[in-house]
Amino acid sequence: MTIHVDLLLKNISQLLTMRSSGPRSGKAMQELEVIEGGVLGITNGKIAFIGNDCAEVEATMIIDCEGKLVTPGLVDPHTHVVFGGSREHEMALKQQGVPYLEILKRGGGILSTVEATRKATMEELYEKASFHLDRMLSFGTTTVEAKSGYGLDRETEMKQLRVAKELQKNHQIDLVSTFLGAHAIPLTHKEDPEQFLEEMLALLDEIKAEQLAEFVDIFTETGVFTVEQSRRYLQKAKEKGFDLKIHADEIDPLGGTEMAASLGAISADHLVGASDEGIQQLAQSGTIAVLLPGTTFYLGKSSFARAREMIERDVAIALATDFNPGSSPTENLQLIMSIAALQLKMSPEEIWNAVTVNAAYAIGRGEQSGQLAVGRNADVVIWDAPNYLYIPYHYGVNHVNKVIKNGRVVTERVEIRE
Ligand code: NIG
Ligand code: FE
Repeated sequence: MTIHVDLLLKNISQLLTMRSSGPRSGKAMQELEVIEGGVLGITNGKIAFIGNDCAEVEATMIIDCEGKLVTPGLVDPHTHVVFGGSREHEMALKQQGVPYLEILKRGGGILSTVEATRKATMEELYEKASFHLDRMLSFGTTTVEAKSGYGLDRETEMKQLRVAKELQKNHQIDLVSTFLGAHAIPLTHKEDPEQFLEEMLALLDEIKAEQLAEFVDIFTETGVFTVEQSRRYLQKAKEKGFDLKIHADEIDPLGGTEMAASLGAISADHLVGASDEGIQQLAQSGTIAVLLPGTTFYLGKSSFARAREMIERDVAIALATDFNPGSSPTENLQLIMSIAALQLKMSPEEIWNAVTVNAAYAIGRGEQSGQLAVGRNADVVIWDAPNYLYIPYHYGVNHVNKVIKNGRVVTERVEIRE
């Protein structure tokens, strides 16, 4: 029987479907379905056909992939993409050895982005975030999580979340929103962080009613929020029906990892200082470890999250850019794949699972994004690479040949003309 599709991708060297019935943890992160010489058919924006033979498929349009790798669109499960201003002036401070948390203590860092974000209009924030999302799309990312947290007051937090909602409606990228009102203690509340957390909790009913965020996150760190404050805050957010995410053990090992597991958080993020006990508990609770090695690299630290121990203990790992103006100014998830290979010692198979299937499950989109299967949205990347080993290997550049979002080619490598 002949089937007809709108668009057919043929002559694919390797087609990674990433098919999985749930997040892959531990040894299963090594598994990868690879169809050698595969073909992929798309109709009405959805995947209509996956196979290794196109003899019985007719197509309105054909893309000859000429021996290239084809994968699902990448999923970036941890970003701070909506913000005002930038922080290039902090680079010199870093070079002089001023630590990240010290810059924050002096009123810079996150707090300087808070000032710029408060000043920006909704339109300005929208335009700027849109620019960064365009760039992510051009690097092969088709689904992105976006956090608030540069307002630290009612008005600006709501403004950031509303910008994210507009982008979710209008931008080609699929956006998933997280409320990170508890990102730092504003200067006005230095003496009373508890009162500040109460003010942020008071926004949750409105956020829920307007469907402005699915997740609630907190920065549990020295000089920011303690584990006990975080636990009480997140417990209340959970009672209001939000799923939880946590910036845990990013710089100092405080025990945020154990807290994330005990609260049943969907993900615990950073985890550079996670203890053995914390890692064990993540495996038991099924909390996904979202690792951000680009941040460790950019903060100039020598010890990275212990991905190998996590995998040995059966944790599911996802990888993200942590795109933000301070600790990780990059939209390029391909670069993070290289850092994961070099510093986290993750294998190429583990890395591909971490930026597709597991990343999607870490933001509640496991059934929609991160896999190629008939009936799913056709979010597909054609890479200028002969095989999947090649992307983490050749680092720091953009390997995208074409990005297809909902069945449409939305970005293509620019050809230099004579
Ligand atoms: O994930 N650690 C807290 N938040 C971000 C950094 C935000 C910033 O520096 O602006 C992070 O590293
Ligand atoms: Fe972050």
